[in-house]
Amino acid sequence: MTDLPSSVVFVTGANRGIGRALAQELLTAGVSKLYAAARDTDSLAELVNAHPDRVIAIQLDVTKANEIASAATLASDTTLLINNAGVAGFTSSMSGDAIEQARVEMDVNYFAPLAVTQAFAPVLKANGGGGVVSLSSIAALSNFPVLGTYSASKAAVHSLMQAFRAELAAQGTYVGTVYPGPVDTDMAANFESEKTAPADVAKAILAGISAKQEEIFPDAMSQNLVAVLDKDRHELDAMTATFLPAA
Ligand SMILES: NC(=O)c1ccc[n+]([C@@H]2O[C@H](COP(=O)([O-])OP(=O)(O)OC[C@H]3O[C@@H](n4cnc5c(N)ncnc54)[C@H](OP(=O)(O)O)[C@@H]3O)[C@@H](O)[C@H]2O)c1
Repeated sequence: MTDLPSSVVFVTGANRGIGRALAQELLTAGVSKLYAAARDTDSLAELVNAHPDRVIAIQLDVTKANEIASAATLASDTTLLINNAGVAGFTSSMSGDAIEQARVEMDVNYFAPLAVTQAFAPVLKANGGGGVVSLSSIAALSNFPVLGTYSASKAAVHSLMQAFRAELAAQGTYVGTVYPGPVDTDMAANFESEKTAPADVAKAILAGISAKQEEIFPDAMSQNLVAVLDKDRHELDAMTATFLPAA
């Protein structure tokens, strides 16, 4: 799964943020077909109208089993699945609605990539192996308390992709996981930090996929933090523990 121009790519949450940027960069890279999935296909109109020959809009709420099954049937020529859709609450783990928030995050950030990858694995196999790439977060590797429950959901998908990597190796499927730092999208609007532009992150993700990297760190902050992790994980944990919710 290294040759993007010959790929047929399926991207969840392709209507805005990193997913939209990935869609744009995939088209620039010359993919033969792009299935752009979103909960509201009207939000994909601009993308489809700009590339009617290569972009197919797909209705997909990643938490709905019937829509996942239909998507996998419709997009049966997919060779690269990108699990991008995600949600983040910025509530304290100590807040009264933390469990409710955590359930939503686990549904979208963990159970959905599990269900979507399961549905597409036979498709990828039938098409020669292909690849699956999921968006985790650098906060998966050391919890950011300002995003405490979200970080936990991203740790879950990080672990899950390790399982898929091992299990799908037999069918020749490349499995990549992406660990961005803060990216300048709606999700991070209230996060006080330097943020990388979505287009730059998308370019770095595609470079990582082309190089078949299992772990992709697509921006300076994620690269700096993983360097600390590689040196001394306790040092990173002490650092990220200071990223607290507002009092
Ligand atoms: N931004 C960051 O700083 C950052 C850092 C690390 C990792 N990430 C990860 O990168 C991915 C993209 O994030 P982003 O920054 O682009 O976020 P965003 O701007 O908030 O966009 C989120 C996308 O996910 C979609 N989505 C949410 N729930 C969905 C559902 N149930 N079914 C289908 N689509 C759904 C949204 O669709 P709607 O328009 O329908 O809501 C939207 O397209 C996420 O997995 C996120 O966790 C982001």
